[in-house]
Amino acid sequence: MRSILVAGLDVGSTCTRAVVGELLGRPHHPQLGVLGIGRSRTVGVRKDVVTDLEAATECIRATLREAEVMAGVRLDRVYVGVSGDHVAVDRSSGVVAVAAEEIVSRDIDRVHEVAQAVALPQDRELLHAVPRDYYVDYHGGITDPVGMTGTRLETELYLVTGSSAVVGNLTRAVEKAGYRVQGRVFEPLAAGRAVLAEDEKELGVAMVDLGGSSTGISVHYEGKIRDLAVMPFGGATITGDLIRGLSVPFADARRIKELHGVACARLVDPADVVRLPGVNGRGRSVPGTYVAELIEQRLENMFRRINRRLHETFPQGALGAGIVLTGGVAATHGICQLARTCLEAPVRSGFPAEGLAGLSDMIARPGFATAAGLALHGADYFLETGEGASTVTSGLVTRVGAWLKEFF
Ligand SMILES: Nc1ncnc2c1ncn2[C@@H]1O[C@H](COP(=O)(O)OP(=O)(O)OP(=O)(O)O)[C@@H](O)[C@H]1O
Ligand SMILES: [Mg+2]
Repeated sequence: MRSILVAGLDVGSTCTRAVVGELLGRPHHPQLGVLGIGRSRTVGVRKDVVTDLEAATECIRATLREAEVMAGVRLDRVYVGVSGDHVAVDRSSGVVAVAAEEIVSRDIDRVHEVAQAVALPQDRELLHAVPRDYYVDYHGGITDPVGMTGTRLETELYLVTGSSAVVGNLTRAVEKAGYRVQGRVFEPLAAGRAVLAEDEKELGVAMVDLGGSSTGISVHYEGKIRDLAVMPFGGATITGDLIRGLSVPFADARRIKELHGVACARLVDPADVVRLPGVNGRGRSVPGTYVAELIEQRLENMFRRINRRLHETFPQGALGAGIVLTGGVAATHGICQLARTCLEAPVRSGFPAEGLAGLSDMIARPGFATAAGLALHGADYFLETGEGASTVTSGLVTRVGAWLKEFF
């Protein structure tokens, strides 16, 4: 059956990626079958902010077209990732009295309303309200209070907000490219959805998405989100070090990093040399260990800052399942070894695998975590509400209805 389609669009600072999938109808075991992917180098966007609307629109259109052609479908809507310095994550709490014998879902809605009723400045918009914890009569650690008895229900939420202007311009670029924005999802939430297994989230795990200009973090413990953050460094910071350390232009520095970069100098054969482009056609060479040292120093600095952040949330280090690295930088050779030493925790690199089928091997790379997570988010939303997906053919209402009946 090919009727229910969802698509994720990740407009990163370096790469724009799209994933199109279809919902596969195995009852009680929903999966997203990957049908098509698209990938282009991002233009018209700097540090996750649209700076040239025409160029960004063209890049988005080309990426989605590529995914559509591969999938053999036309989409009308997409889930879009939001990240960058303009995103803020704040905590907010609310309390309500429980009238009836037991807590019902309406009470959850009310307590969320109270916790969300903070005045948002005009230039910011709410992206998510994620429950951090529920307390019933002062007892915390409750995942789902529905059906419990008590007189006082309290919640603590993460409120994720973004700059209205930045989010608005991204939306405009997608719309100008010919697609509706079905939902906007904070990227670390999306990436976590695609790469983290349920038992890891129970045990305690931090997903660290090392992108081009920023690093997204989402921490889970006992099945709940315990921290969400964006930090202002990424692969471009490493490229900057290579530009200065090797005296080469940006494009060469990036190419050298991606082709020859190693995260631990001790993993490089001391005899290895890296050829650098020279002026007037006269090339130069530097030891491979020197290039690796530059990368290692920067990554160490980044991991130290990440570690400080993780320790703020978990001073005793409760992340039993350790750290999962995603994003383009996670493809650096030897990065897991370095991260294990710096973060003193188990580290693995994460690629989208959770709940995926079909051509999922094509996105089995750390860089595709966000785009895949966005599509999965769309699939989750559809399964909850029966809305928000694209369909290939007409007869939507009956087909969606039949499909849902088959599922539940
Ligand atoms: N094989 C590789 N080795 C090292 N670095 C790599 C490799 N491949 C890509 N990168 C780097 O990863 C970064 C891009 O990662 P990614 O595609 O996840 O970023 P993005 O999503 O576009 O950016 P952001 O998430 O910050 O908006 C770039 O700095 C790029 O040079
Ligand atoms: Mg990214």
